[in-house]
Amino acid sequence: MTLKNEMWSPASLAAQAMGHIDATTGAIIPPIHPATTYLRDPDNEYRTGWSYSRSGNPSYQAAEELLTHLEGGVETQLFASGLAAATAVVMALRPGDHIVAPLVMYWSLRNWLVGPATEWGLEVSFADMTDLAAVERAIKPGRTKLIWVETPSNPLWRVTDIAAIAKIARHAGAKLTVDSTCATPVLSRPIEHGADIVLHSATKYLNGHSDVIAGTLTTAAKDEFWQRICAIRTQSGGVLGPFEAWLLQRGMRTLFLRVREACTTADRLAHHFRHHPKLAEVLYPGLPDHPDHAIASRQMSGGFGGMLSIRLAGADNAAQQAAIACAAKVKLWKRATSLGGVESLIEHRASIEGPGSPVPLGLLRLSVGIESADDLIADLEAALAAAGPTS
Ligand SMILES: Cc1ncc(COP(=O)(O)O)c(C=O)c1O
Repeated sequence: MTLKNEMWSPASLAAQAMGHIDATTGAIIPPIHPATTYLRDPDNEYRTGWSYSRSGNPSYQAAEELLTHLEGGVETQLFASGLAAATAVVMALRPGDHIVAPLVMYWSLRNWLVGPATEWGLEVSFADMTDLAAVERAIKPGRTKLIWVETPSNPLWRVTDIAAIAKIARHAGAKLTVDSTCATPVLSRPIEHGADIVLHSATKYLNGHSDVIAGTLTTAAKDEFWQRICAIRTQSGGVLGPFEAWLLQRGMRTLFLRVREACTTADRLAHHFRHHPKLAEVLYPGLPDHPDHAIASRQMSGGFGGMLSIRLAGADNAAQQAAIACAAKVKLWKRATSLGGVESLIEHRASIEGPGSPVPLGLLRLSVGIESADDLIADLEAALAAAGPTS
């Protein structure tokens, strides 16, 4: 039994992870299936549909079905990580194909694109996704098969107009994949704007508790490209463990509450710190003077996300020192990489990205959790007071 074919709101479907009731026990929480293999019928068939867990595990169903509904897609696949999901999309291309990706994007994926993907015969061009003419110029007619968008994008929180890029992709005959990790389906549904595939690092908001590494892809159509992606999950083996899949469906039950709270607090922080004398800039799409505020207001609903960045004032080196000093002084914020958990994280982003990173040296990335907004503001105020020069 499930709420699948009923017209409940996304928040209700999420709260009950699609409302599955176990047919034999009446349990309202799904079981975990640790089995790696399943009994074949005497006539040599697999009538249950399950054969070997690298091809699929019933523990995936609750999270996959829920995400398909939340994203308005037709099918979802769980992966061992966000990067396993992202690389599966790229590996579904063929040698000689061309990809257009964002100039500033999740750094590890950018490195994978310029490294292994290129070595395997794919060509990648990077373009400013907020400049539609630049994206059009980057298209190689007949060869561009994938456009990659991340919105809001890490860690400058630029917002890409998905519908406009979808139009360019359709015209070029390319697939559009949107990394919607930081928007979550609570705030944005890229398929409604024309995306073909939506990616999440489920490690972040979907799970929300910093205790699972997972990735997801949701497709708008079960076409040949999607079938290739599904085959790659099985063949390259980037599958999620059943316990992690179970934790993920548990985490997703509180997705709406967590994301709404994080958005409200992030918005408060952005407004509170925007004119702070120790800061050169606060980057948050919810601020009216953010360059993409108009697009974000159109494309996102219910908030502008729980992620923001602050840039410490001063020239490069001084700003970097001030940023690192500020991160060293916080007590409630946790000094750690990653994002989207219930605990707030602060990170000097250029340090983790290393040489070649386009991120300003004085930038601190803030992932806002669900602690008291007053406490988070007070902790950051105190840390800023103890750090660096004033602008
Ligand atoms: C926007 C974004 N996409 C993808 C990833 C990769 O996800 P994972 O770490 O689950 O492999 C990350 C990880 O930080 C991310 O921030």
